[in-house]
Formats: sequence, structure tokens, C-alpha cells
Amino acid sequence: MMPEWSRAGTGCGRGGGEMMKQLVWVGALVLAPLVAVSALERQAADPTKDADDPYEIPEAARERRNPMVRSDLALRSAQTLWKKHCESCHGVTGRGDGPDARLHEKRKGHAPRNLTNPKVQDNLTDGEIFWRISKGIIEEGNNVIMPKYEDKIPSETERWQLVLFVRELGPAAKR
Ligand code: HEC
Repeated sequence: MMPEWSRAGTGCGRGGGEMMKQLVWVGALVLAPLVAVSALERQAADPTKDADDPYEIPEAARERRNPMVRSDLALRSAQTLWKKHCESCHGVTGRGDGPDARLHEKRKGHAPRNLTNPKVQDNLTDGEIFWRISKGIIEEGNNVIMPKYEDKIPSETERWQLVLFVRELGPAAKR
């Protein structure tokens, strides 16, 4: 005997209740994988929600000060590294006009910013520049927006010297 509550509302009497139950089951089986897939898609579409966002720089890293003192020697050594590693994208003077910049933009959708722009410089702490050089910008799926240099330039001293050099790009371009 069907309990009173299951009959109410369906309006289709005995066997109808059974059929409804079956329909609900089939529906659940069909829908469950769809719901799971759409949840995955939602995650992929919102990379900023990812805990290890490649653009985010931890507070402690941002606040680090450059331990290197500005000197001609430090700047010259950094310039050698800039020519070797950075110029192809960022350009000789840092305007973001290196030979690879446009190609890079086409392939990755990101062109390097103009590092000689005082607004860009003001928005960056020394610690942030150091972090960026060390960690690069590597989006999900190993999409390299900017390579990381902590392996290619393992010396922290040399990377801090590059920070000094990046700071020179603004004033140097004005000369
Ligand atoms: C393959 C091209 C490429 C190379 C090589 C490269 N970068 Fe970048 N860099 C980028 C792109 C693209 C960005 C992201 C856009 C931007 O912020 O300028 C970026 C961002 C930066 C930023 C942060 C700018 C900001 O406003 O947040 C700094 C600083 C920087 N690069 C310095 C360097 C230095 C120093 C080197 C060499 C050791 C280097 N880059 C090598 C492409 C490159």
C-alpha cells in the first residue's frame, strides 16, 4: 500500500508513483556527470580564484628591500644579464619593444609593459621586481608569459642587481 504523502500532488495514482521514482533516478544519473563537468569548467574559467595565482606576489616578498647598493659596477654587470635574458622581449631601453615582443603578444596575448613609464615604476616595489624576475609569470598549463630566472640566474646578488638596472630604465630613457 502506498503511503498517503507519496500519492498527493502527483495526481497519477499507484504505478505512476513508481514511474516518477524511476524517472528521478534516470534523471540523476544523466545529470550528475554534467554537473561535475560544468563545475570543472567554472574553475578553469576563473584562474584568479586559484590559490597560486601566478600574478599574485606575497606580502613578505613585496616588502623586501634591495640589499645591493647602486654602483656603476653593479649596473654594468646587470646590463650584461639584461642583454642576455631580457632585451629580446623588454627591449634595449625597457619600453617593451624588443624583437620578440610583438610575436610574444600574438602567441600569449601579453606584451611587456613599458618599464620606462614612471607610473609602471611607481606601482612596483623592489621586492616585487625581484619576485617577478625570480618567478616569472607562468599561467596554468605552463603558458609562459614571462620566464622565471631563479634557475637561469641562480645568484640572488645578480638578480638584485637586475632590480637596480630596472630602476635605471625610467631615468635613463629620459636622458
Ligand atoms: C618572453 C618575453 C620576456 C622575457 C624574456 C622577460 N620578460 Fe619580463 N615580462 C614579460 C611580460 C609579457 C610581462 C608581463 C607584462 C608586464 O607586466 O610587463 C613581464 C613583466 C615583467 C616585469 C613586471 C612589470 C609589471 O608592471 O609588473 C618586470 C620587472 C620584468 N618583466 C623584468 C624582466 C627582466 C629583468 C627580465 C630578464 C631577466 C625579463 N623580464 C624577461 C615578458 C618577458
